[in-house]
Amino acid sequence: MPLDIIVGTQWGDEGKGHITDWLAGEVDIVARFSGGDNAGHTVAIGEEIYKLHLIPSGIVHSHVTCVIGNGVVINPEVLIREINDLKTRGVDISPPRLRVSDRAHLITPGHIAMDAAQESHRGKASIGTTQRGIGPAYTDKTARSGLRAGLLADPAELANKVTAHIKAKNQELDRFPGSTKLNTNDITKQFVEYSSQLKPYLVESSTFLNQAILDGKSVLAEGAQGTQLDLDHGTYPFVTSSWPTAGGALIGLGLGPKTVRRVIGVAKAFTSRVGSGPLPSEQSGESATRLRGTGEMPWDEFGTTTGRPRRVGWLDLIVLRYAVQINGLTELALTKLDILSGLPELPVCVAYELDGKRIDTFPADLTVLAKCRPIYRKLAGWSEDITGARAIDDLPSNVRHYIDFVAEKAGIPINLVSVGPGREQIITCE
Ligand code: IMP
Repeated sequence: MPLDIIVGTQWGDEGKGHITDWLAGEVDIVARFSGGDNAGHTVAIGEEIYKLHLIPSGIVHSHVTCVIGNGVVINPEVLIREINDLKTRGVDISPPRLRVSDRAHLITPGHIAMDAAQESHRGKASIGTTQRGIGPAYTDKTARSGLRAGLLADPAELANKVTAHIKAKNQELDRFPGSTKLNTNDITKQFVEYSSQLKPYLVESSTFLNQAILDGKSVLAEGAQGTQLDLDHGTYPFVTSSWPTAGGALIGLGLGPKTVRRVIGVAKAFTSRVGSGPLPSEQSGESATRLRGTGEMPWDEFGTTTGRPRRVGWLDLIVLRYAVQINGLTELALTKLDILSGLPELPVCVAYELDGKRIDTFPADLTVLAKCRPIYRKLAGWSEDITGARAIDDLPSNVRHYIDFVAEKAGIPINLVSVGPGREQIITCE
């Protein structure tokens, strides 16, 4: 049985958790492949809202096994908190239901302190990171000095490594005036305590997943962040430090390309971005407030992890086509269409104007991108409340036209659309 991959096509927060939850109904395993607790996935089931940062969204389905893959960076404190929160809410989170790769890397207070120090040192050029220690943890991984989760199985070795690591981080922090020293003994003790709680979850996840596929099980790879935050393919340097794209799923889970069946790109019906960096179709004023919401509802455009208001803009088809290319998408899921209800017309960015010429590719160079002006096509809006629609035919013709237009310009089918946060509000278009 195959691997299906879910990725974000924009700057994250496209509703991947919502789509993963829906697709998880029909798979055996859901596996996270990149990022860490910088991600925030919101899943609404009836009145219950689950905000997950590390544990795959599939966990709320009792038949699903969840895997945190080798490509993820794990803050053990956050993972234990999330496990305990789910337990309190009656979700079975026993080790057979959750597997943690022994090759995943650990985030320590040293990484978090470095993230804060580096951001403050960047001043006006700050990336706007989530300050969860993500960049410094991946930096240590690529510098081959990181701490892998497998160490949690050997408390003595873990203690030695954590002690040396925190000492090294204190030396690095010395370069940043005003940063406080970390307490090596306390942190080492803390990590030894984490080891007894997390050891039962450890697995060699590549072998586990490959065997599952050989045994006929289906795996859904759940992406975090989005294509434009990819370390290689995003708006560098305003990106995260991992590969949230389809290639990252294979590396981050230890699976080969021949296992892949579908690559599903999740696109929000408009655009958002949290943190610094370019956003060509960004809006301000009334239309931005309208797209963002007030923050009262869990699905309003405020960061799940940091609570920061997201920057918002119209749908950008250049960005979408770029995601089709980078990820080899087979199809799209279009989310949050209901948020557009009541807007008389819907501008959609169809190309950029650069030095008086029309271009339809996404520039790699941010100074070039900064000179690009969006060219909009205005589509007719709709006034109807569409949150009650349960089939494509329930949608007003202008909504269906919007969907068809996006699919045609993206060059791939839109197989799912969502008209609200509930499971029942995801509509199949096939
Ligand atoms: P980091 O991943 O915390 O290092 O942050 C790097 C950039 O990625 C910042 O602009 C963050 O706001 C952004 N980012 C990281 N994770 C997410 C996410 O899950 N959704 C949206 N933006 C994110």
